[in-house]
Amino acid sequence: MQCPYKNILDPDIYVGGGHHSIFAEIREQSGGLAYIEDPITGVPYWAVMKREYADYVCKNPLLFSSQAKTILPKEMPEEEIALSRLMLVNMDPPEHVKYRRIVRAAFTPKAVQGYEARFREVAKETIDRIADKGECEFVTDVAAELPLIAIMSLCGIPMEDKKQFFDWTNTMIFTEDEDIGGAQGVEASQAAAIEVYAYAAALAEKHKTTPLTDIVGALLDGTVNDEKLTPEEFQLFFLMLIAAGNESTRSVIAHGMRLLMEHPEQLNKLINDPSLIPFAVEEVLRYNPAFVQMRRTVMKDTEIGGQQLKAGDKMVINWQAINHDPDVFDDPETFDVERFKRKPELASQHRAFGNGEHFCIGAHISRLEMQVMFEEIIPRLRNPAFSRPVEYMRDYFVNSIKSMHISFDAAA
Ligand code: HEM
Repeated sequence: MQCPYKNILDPDIYVGGGHHSIFAEIREQSGGLAYIEDPITGVPYWAVMKREYADYVCKNPLLFSSQAKTILPKEMPEEEIALSRLMLVNMDPPEHVKYRRIVRAAFTPKAVQGYEARFREVAKETIDRIADKGECEFVTDVAAELPLIAIMSLCGIPMEDKKQFFDWTNTMIFTEDEDIGGAQGVEASQAAAIEVYAYAAALAEKHKTTPLTDIVGALLDGTVNDEKLTPEEFQLFFLMLIAAGNESTRSVIAHGMRLLMEHPEQLNKLINDPSLIPFAVEEVLRYNPAFVQMRRTVMKDTEIGGQQLKAGDKMVINWQAINHDPDVFDDPETFDVERFKRKPELASQHRAFGNGEHFCIGAHISRLEMQVMFEEIIPRLRNPAFSRPVEYMRDYFVNSIKSMHISFDAAA
């Protein structure tokens, strides 16, 4: 029988930005867990489209492994999988938590509070740079700035290397989009990763003579089972932090601006009452979280919602679909900046940052970055309008905007 569902691991369906309706259709037709054929890779998968099922999967990391095939939904050769397993996000218990402990201190709410003044400074400088021009390419000129500067500062990387890290991250992540990695997407991605490893190795050398006190220092001094990280483990941890720390928040800031511009009545609410901005940030995170979907591997025969899953089956948790689950959110397709003000308890109900064992370590930082950016953007970039059609990244992993040209009036 022909598969009744669209293949949501086909990067082409993300080019037009209209994939939410496809997710809603699959959720409704399947009851929340759909078995989907993938003619591109030949590997079928279970798509988790309902919040209740996603929570069950996230809370049972030994039954639904991140380590077996990594969290990337793509198919990779075994040697690439083996290397990727050295990254925190691709580890299972009990090792996972031992590695997570090493960097935890930099991401606590208290630590993040300490970054606020610097984040506000960066947000202000970002808008100062473009305000008088009356136009910008929002992704590079605005959305990318703070997330990149923040993670670079946390890792003690000098700002003159900013452009380099921006390009490396894009090339590593967006292998499916020919405008980014070119036709050699995978090779370009690997070459960029090698450059990041070399950069990390140089930091490790520096640490020997001038001890670093930032996250990089914590990684180099930290131990797991009384052993320091191997050079490879350190380099992969570094790469993961850089990549996870900038691309994701950049994407959500860009989608947030897009959503506000597409819904001017919602933008007006924020102009009239800036105290709504933190609630609007939650709604943007719910509506368009950066990651579309992440992989798990079923480790033992099991059952979810009456469906039989077999050991070895591929599974993808679709964060965007579960954030639009009508059993959790009323009117899920409506973008409503007051949703989380009316019902504050909903803030713990979306899964933009995942759930359980691998809950995003950067969630506090990211929320602060978004809040600070929108507190600067909203009062200063008035009457924003699209000057060209928005271009979306051709990617099924991170739902990103490639370019968004806008015009605006600078507030007096
Ligand atoms: C809006 C921005 C962000 C979103 C939507 C996001 C989303 C996520 C999600 C869904 C996961 C769960 C992975 C899984 O279940 O397999 C995750 C994990 C992670 N995130 Fe984020 N993230 C964001 C920002 C950040 C930032 C700013 C950092 C670092 C500074 C970061 C670092 C990490 C790390 C290290 C993990 C792995 C945690 C673990 O395996 O224990 N993220 N993120």
